[in-house]
Amino acid sequence: MRSTADFIPENYSHPIETGQFQVSAPSNIALVKYWGKKDHQIPANPSLSFTLKHCKTITTLSFAKKETEEISFDLLFEGLPKEDFKPKIQKFFERVHKYSPFITSYHFTIDTRNTFPHSSGIASSASGMAALAMNLMSLEKLLNPEMTEAYFYQKASFLARLGSGSACRSIKGNVVVWGKHDEIPESSDLFGVAFPSEIHAIFNNYQDTILLVDKGEKQVSSTLGHDLMTGHPFAESRFAQAHDNLSKLKIVLQNGDINAFIAIVESEALTLHAMMMTSLPYFILMKPNTLAIINAIWKFRGDSNIPVCFTLDAGANVHVLYPEKDKIQVLEFIQNQLVAFCENQQYICDTVGSGAVLIDS
Ligand code: PMV
Repeated sequence: MRSTADFIPENYSHPIETGQFQVSAPSNIALVKYWGKKDHQIPANPSLSFTLKHCKTITTLSFAKKETEEISFDLLFEGLPKEDFKPKIQKFFERVHKYSPFITSYHFTIDTRNTFPHSSGIASSASGMAALAMNLMSLEKLLNPEMTEAYFYQKASFLARLGSGSACRSIKGNVVVWGKHDEIPESSDLFGVAFPSEIHAIFNNYQDTILLVDKGEKQVSSTLGHDLMTGHPFAESRFAQAHDNLSKLKIVLQNGDINAFIAIVESEALTLHAMMMTSLPYFILMKPNTLAIINAIWKFRGDSNIPVCFTLDAGANVHVLYPEKDKIQVLEFIQNQLVAFCENQQYICDTVGSGAVLIDS
């Protein structure tokens, strides 16, 4: 089993002066939720997510060797300087320096953009940190070409986790588990691993239509949200429930029992929000339109027998999940009945994808 020390490199074998990479990394949607953490971005419970395909961050990293030894970078968003993103990246570089000491030997220019609208309420930290971590690993691979592919992806996920926990699930695999779980071999608190078994055909190209109910800034930052689980009266039973739900979902993903899938996924979403409603301070992150959508989904499912369900992030937007074969009917239902509950009638159609890729080097 890997430990943190395995990610501290020895000497680099190849000197590199300048260069550039471009990486695309997707967002992901958790089915079993990560909510609560220990020091150094160690999750309080294991989580499992579908990797998305179209909601992506594309980041170009240019690097040039310098003489001085400090963290130095310029940050551009869609080609223009973006000073307010810098503190987060500075903190990320400081955190990962121990594992990627070459960081202080280069000046970086980071140019990043998202394929989804900026103020959509969709967190860009998962895709953004995954893209940056993949870029750093691409450079480390040039410095140390002997690195194996398995180590490359594991360490990319490890670094991404240090930027934003759930980002470690955006590196590799359609279905990713992060956090030690007894029934998932190789699972680790340090990085995400691809789900180890073949998934049932019903989950191939599974659809996620994201209904943008509230496109504003997050009411509760993830950092604050995770902290609310420290000393939370239901924390221990919630963490045990996540282990249990992951065990159940592991079976369901293989046998295709769609009703059991729906029950686990919707319960996980509501539990996440229940944790927020019962913490101190307490928050209600759903909006009236979130509830209207949930009720409409339940009615449509009851009437049509189409296995459509929902999940939620730490906000008001609704992820509508359904098999590819039901796409036409579900999209018609969304158009006719759900779009009215979205801000500016906006929604994003996504589907399960396979992870981050190096587009250019
Ligand atoms: O990665 P963070 O720290 O932004 O936390 C993400 C938390 C949830 O999105 C609510 C759940 C999850 O597992 O992605």
